[in-house]
Amino acid sequence: MNYQWYPGHMTKAKRMMQENMSLIDLVIELVDARIPLSSRNPDIDELGKNKYRLILLNKSDLADETANRLWIDYFKAKGFHVLEINAKTGQGLRFIQGIVREACKEKIERDRRRGIKNRPIRAIVVGIPNVGKSTFINSFAGKACTKTGNKPGVTKGKQWIRMNKELELLDTPGILWPKFESEEVGRNLALIGSMNDEILQMTELAADLIAFLLKHYKEALAARYGVEDMDGLETPLLVLSHICENRKCYKKGQMADYEKAASIVMDDFRSGRIGRITLELPE
Ligand code: G4P
Repeated sequence: MNYQWYPGHMTKAKRMMQENMSLIDLVIELVDARIPLSSRNPDIDELGKNKYRLILLNKSDLADETANRLWIDYFKAKGFHVLEINAKTGQGLRFIQGIVREACKEKIERDRRRGIKNRPIRAIVVGIPNVGKSTFINSFAGKACTKTGNKPGVTKGKQWIRMNKELELLDTPGILWPKFESEEVGRNLALIGSMNDEILQMTELAADLIAFLLKHYKEALAARYGVEDMDGLETPLLVLSHICENRKCYKKGQMADYEKAASIVMDDFRSGRIGRITLELPE
């Protein structure tokens, strides 16, 4: 399958990020906990060099708990500060302030030594489309905090959300573009719904997902689709045709409607109904 990507506004996005970078101390990078590497753009390491870094494993509610822990260790070993969160419910967000303080302690200490008081850490939220940036900013900022704009030292037009006296967030998140380094990365992004579904062949995608689930999450798959014994259902196509029967997906003339079964599987997966599933693990 050819995994197409967004139209060409990515250069503009990169330029905006470069401009914003000069204003900030801390990069808060959201990744999707189900595909923490495929949902990153490694260019952020270049863009965000010399900045403090925090990686948030978002949508951790949809990902495998054991895998979340492995990914936290992985990113920590690479020198990042890292936290798993659910931006939608706000789970994990209460730990952020402490981690930010820890991540930026050098600067805080330097300011203190120079007698600079009340200079908040300035942060930008970045990540690929649909990773949860706006949801995060809204939940994290809540309703309590105030927007600050056009203060001295703030580039005209930039809006900062004052979280508290220690932290300000740029209100527009930075959009990163996924990197299609391999077919697997493209497939992972397509599976979590980070691409325009209209350009995808859903049946093929669902078959790929089922093949993965048969290998790594067989019980969850069996439980969801009412198959006691998966032993007879060894190929994705057999599983799909079982789902057609089970969910009464038929076209006219009792023909199995594989497209419909495929979209059921994809919907179930993306909303966590098959269970908490992680598609890639650290090497
Ligand atoms: P973006 O700014 O990075 O483009 O992403 P955005 O916040 O718009 O979030 C994209 C989708 O991901 C939204 O769903 C949002 O609710 C969902 N989401 C964000 N964080 C989490 C999380 O931690 N867990 C889960 N399960 N979902 C999350 P949507 O379907 O577009 O909207 P809605 O139906 O949820 O309102």
